[in-house]
Amino acid sequence: MVGSQLRVVVLVSGSGTNLQALLDATADPAYPATVVAVGADREGIEGLTRAERAGVPTFVLRVKDFQTRSAWDAALTASVAGFDPDLVVSAGFMKLVGEDFLAAYAGRLLNTHPALSPSFPGMHGPADALAYGVKVTGCTLFVVDAGVDTGPIVAQSVVPVLDDDTAETLHERIKTEERRMLVEAVGRMAREGFTVDGRVVRFGG
Ligand code: GRF
Repeated sequence: MVGSQLRVVVLVSGSGTNLQALLDATADPAYPATVVAVGADREGIEGLTRAERAGVPTFVLRVKDFQTRSAWDAALTASVAGFDPDLVVSAGFMKLVGEDFLAAYAGRLLNTHPALSPSFPGMHGPADALAYGVKVTGCTLFVVDAGVDTGPIVAQSVVPVLDDDTAETLHERIKTEERRMLVEAVGRMAREGFTVDGRVVRFGG
């Protein structure tokens, strides 16, 4: 069935637990997607080790090795294209991609964010939610557009904020939910297809 599986490239910058959830899911032949490569913007991260352990090809492109940001973006686009993905998942990838990448993967590039969009975009979703005093927060899977965490929403899941939460404990509980959401949504996208109509994403052809 591998031939008919959705081909996914995952981009990471850190611990890669969302990647691991996808790798674990794809170990089941009934799961309709396969991770064909993992890309990173830095060496020596657990996310790359997870990919190597699973026998998935990896590549690393560091911004500082390129003369311009757009040269890095073009190289990233070419590297990802070499694996012919149906879907690209940015899972804890700490870089904004540029115009080339967005043009090549418009509508097929997903990102996970540890907050309930449109609240708390940016790098500090859990800490910002805690500081604001919200009673629930969560995670959002979205189709990347040119903004920061602004793209059309594929899935969201709610996580309660506890009185004694720190940014770290809250983020860990969000990540547990984030991994479940990602595996479920990618599975549905592969099985059912999806459409993006303005801001609205729907499963099904
Ligand atoms: C996730 O919470 C993701 O939303 C955020 O960074 C975290 C990455 O975690 N951008 P991991 O690398 O998948 O463990």
